[in-house]
Amino acid sequence: MTRLSTRVSSLKLVNPLVLASGILGNDGLLLARAAKAGFGAVTTKSITVEPRKGYDTPIIAFVDSGLLNAVGLSNPGYKALPDILKGAREGGAPVIVSIAASTPDEFRMIASYAEEHGADAVELNLSCPHVKGHGLQIGQDPGYTYEIVKTVSSSVDIPVFIKVGVTDNLMETVSRSLDAGADAIVAINTLKAMAIDIYAKKPILSNKYGGLSGPAIHPVATRVVYEIYREYSPPIIGVGGVSKWVDAVEFMLAGASAVGIGTAVAFKGLSIAREILEGIEEYLDSEGFSSIEDIIGYVHRK
Ligand SMILES: Cc1cc2nc3c(=O)[nH]c(=O)nc-3n(C[C@H](O)[C@H](O)[C@H](O)COP(=O)(O)O)c2cc1C
Repeated sequence: MTRLSTRVSSLKLVNPLVLASGILGNDGLLLARAAKAGFGAVTTKSITVEPRKGYDTPIIAFVDSGLLNAVGLSNPGYKALPDILKGAREGGAPVIVSIAASTPDEFRMIASYAEEHGADAVELNLSCPHVKGHGLQIGQDPGYTYEIVKTVSSSVDIPVFIKVGVTDNLMETVSRSLDAGADAIVAINTLKAMAIDIYAKKPILSNKYGGLSGPAIHPVATRVVYEIYREYSPPIIGVGGVSKWVDAVEFMLAGASAVGIGTAVAFKGLSIAREILEGIEEYLDSEGFSSIEDIIGYVHRK
């Protein structure tokens, strides 16, 4: 163990930074590059059973302090996992396979296939805010969430993470996921949002709705991480609007054992990993902490 190393359930990371799902797509070599650039773990874009083309353009809109996307879960389908994993594992960091599906059996099938081909953990995307029959539509139903998580966690030996979004019954979804055997909670996905072109007088995204990410959502994500830790203290990967080391430290103080980064990689490039790690180390020194383990959930001890 070094002072920056951490664990998310049984998954050991050399540092707490995780490349968030969807940011570098599903090119194994790009994911490996993220690991080599300093990320402690990398996540694939959500994989579905069948290949998906995704939505027509425009799929991205830039807004103040964030990004709005409705990519439509474009991905090559789960049969591409052996190739993706082979490339990604060359980076030397654990690879988390994100799964989007509509039924417990589909989730189980992809999770088992991912495990068979070397995934270090699976992340069930129960929170994509803009694809019908997937994501948030499932995560909003705690009973169905329980069924999915139970099916997957009893079928694989690798850790099962649940990615949640912001819903009215979020805490119930988290609680039912943990009851069903989830090993960690990843919070949060993007927030359902819209941007309108005032001259075309219509929504900018072809899908009308998209998911908001970036600094705009960081305070919401911090609140969610704080509440999940306060209620259940599971291992948490905090995701949402991290663009500088202060944001990462904030997540860990609120209870996150690791920190996902998405949009900031798109804006600032992969060098952001080392920049944030340096900032965290300086913070540990200046505040007299010996390791990041000492700051996880610290605000709850006060
Ligand atoms: C272009 C784009 C694609 C994304 N695709 C996925 C995805 O396939 N699955 C998923 O669980 N989250 C996806 N996300 C959400 C991110 O993983 C992350 O939860 C969210 O963007 C908040 O973090 P950030 O503010 O650091 O980007 C995507 C985000 C963006 C910007």
